[in-house]
Amino acid sequence: MESIQAIKQRFGIIGNDPKLNRSIEKAIQVAPTDISVLVTGESGVGKESIPKIIHQLSHRKHGKYIAVNCGAIPEGTIDSELFGHEKGAFTGATQTRSGYFEVADGGTIFLDEVGELPLTTQVRLLRVLENGEFIKVGSSKVQKTDVRIVAATNVNMFEAIKKEKFREDLYYRLSTIEINLPALRERKEDIHLLFRKFASDFALKYKMPTVKLTDDAVNLLLRYRWNGNIRQLRNVAEQVSVLEHIRTINAATIQNYLPNTGSNLPAVVNNTKSESDFANEREILYKVLFDMKADLNDLKKLTMELMKNGSVSEVQKDNEHLIQKIYGDKDEAIESTAIEDLEVLSLQQHTDTKESILPEVEDKYHFAEEIEEEETLSLQDKELELIKKSLERHSGKRKLAAAELGISERTLYRKIKQYDL
Ligand SMILES: Nc1ncnc2c1ncn2[C@@H]1O[C@H](COP(=O)(O)OP(=O)(O)O)[C@@H](O)[C@H]1O
Ligand SMILES: [Mg+2]
Repeated sequence: MESIQAIKQRFGIIGNDPKLNRSIEKAIQVAPTDISVLVTGESGVGKESIPKIIHQLSHRKHGKYIAVNCGAIPEGTIDSELFGHEKGAFTGATQTRSGYFEVADGGTIFLDEVGELPLTTQVRLLRVLENGEFIKVGSSKVQKTDVRIVAATNVNMFEAIKKEKFREDLYYRLSTIEINLPALRERKEDIHLLFRKFASDFALKYKMPTVKLTDDAVNLLLRYRWNGNIRQLRNVAEQVSVLEHIRTINAATIQNYLPNTGSNLPAVVNNTKSESDFANEREILYKVLFDMKADLNDLKKLTMELMKNGSVSEVQKDNEHLIQKIYGDKDEAIESTAIEDLEVLSLQQHTDTKESILPEVEDKYHFAEEIEEEETLSLQDKELELIKKSLERHSGKRKLAAAELGISERTLYRKIKQYDL
C-alpha cells in the first residue's frame, strides 16, 4: 500500500495536518473496494483530489474516470447527461445518446455537488447504486452498468434531507464511507506551508522573485477565517505574486487581499491598488468570461426546453425571466429578432429539414459542455474572487452586488451558499 506521503506527492497535496492525513488514509483504505464514498467539506478544501486517489488506487484505474459537476448542469438535461436518451425521447433527440453511467462502465464517476441533484434524478441514481440498473430517458429497456460512485458536497446533507431536497435513503447509500476534509482555519499549521508552495509556483509561472511574508503577515493569515479555504489562499498568493513590487509582504499589504479582516489590524495605507478593483484588465476579462458562461448556460437551458417542448409560446412564457436576462430587459429590437429566430427553429422542427438544423444545435451544446468542464475549476476561483469583491464594495448588499455582476439575486444567493461566503 502506498504511503500517505507518497500519495500526497503524487497528487500534489500539501499539508501535514493529522485530519488531512487521516482523510487521505481513509481514501487509500477504501480505494480497492467498490464502496460508495461521500467526500464532505467546505468549498475550496481540496475535495476533488479524493475521488482521483480512490480511482487511481482501485482495480478500475484503467477504466474511465468521469467528473460531473451536478450543480452546473441544467435540471432539464441532467437525466439525459447521466443516463443517456433514446432517439425521439424529446424534440431534438435525433440520435440515441449514451450517458455518463453507460460510458463509465467499469470505471468511476465523481458526482461533485451531489446535493444539487434534482429529486427525480436522485431516484434514478438510487436505482443504479442499488442494483446497477438504469433506463435511458425515453426508453423502457433496463440496462446494466458497473460504476463506482464517489460523491462530494459542501452543503449540510442533514439539513437538505430535513427540507426534503435530498432523499434520505440515497444519502445513506452514498455515504457508506464519509471522508471529511478539514477547513483551512482548522489546520493553521499548514497555512504558511501552503502559501510558500503557491508563492514559489507562481514565481516560477510568472518569472518573478518569490514573495516572502513577514511574521506579522503570517500571523494575520493564521487568524483569518478563510471562507474560501485553500482555493482562496491560492488566489491571494497569486494576486500578491503578480501585483506587489516589494517582494517582502507585511501585514498591512496582505490585508488588502483579505476581505473582512478585523478592525484590530493596522489601517490600510497602501492604496496603489484601490482603483484596480474591476479596472484591472485581468478581472475585466474574467468578468466577461463569466457573463458569457452564465449566458451560455441560460441559452443551453432554453435550447433544451425548446427541443423538448417544441412549443415556442409555452417556452417563452415559462422562461420569461431567462429570455429577458439574455436578450436584455426591455430591448425590443433584440427581443423581437430573438423571438423570430426561435420561431424559425420550431417551425423547422416540424418539417423534413429538421435533421439538418438540429444536429448543429446539439453539437454546439456538447461543445459548450466540454469547454465548461475544462474551465470550471479555474473559473470558479475567479468567480469566488469577483463575488467577494463585489459584495465587499457594496457592504454585503446582495441586490447591488448582483446588479454589478450581471446575475440575478437568486443566482448570487446560490453562489454565496455554494462558496460558503
Ligand atoms: N492540500 C492541498 N495542497 C495543494 N493544493 C490544494 C490542496 N487542497 C486544495 N488545493 C487546491 O485548492 C483548489 C481547490 O481545491 P478543490 O479540490 O477544487 O476544492 P473543493 O472541491 O473542495 O471546492 C484547487 O486549486 C486545488 O488544487
Ligand atoms: Mg469542487
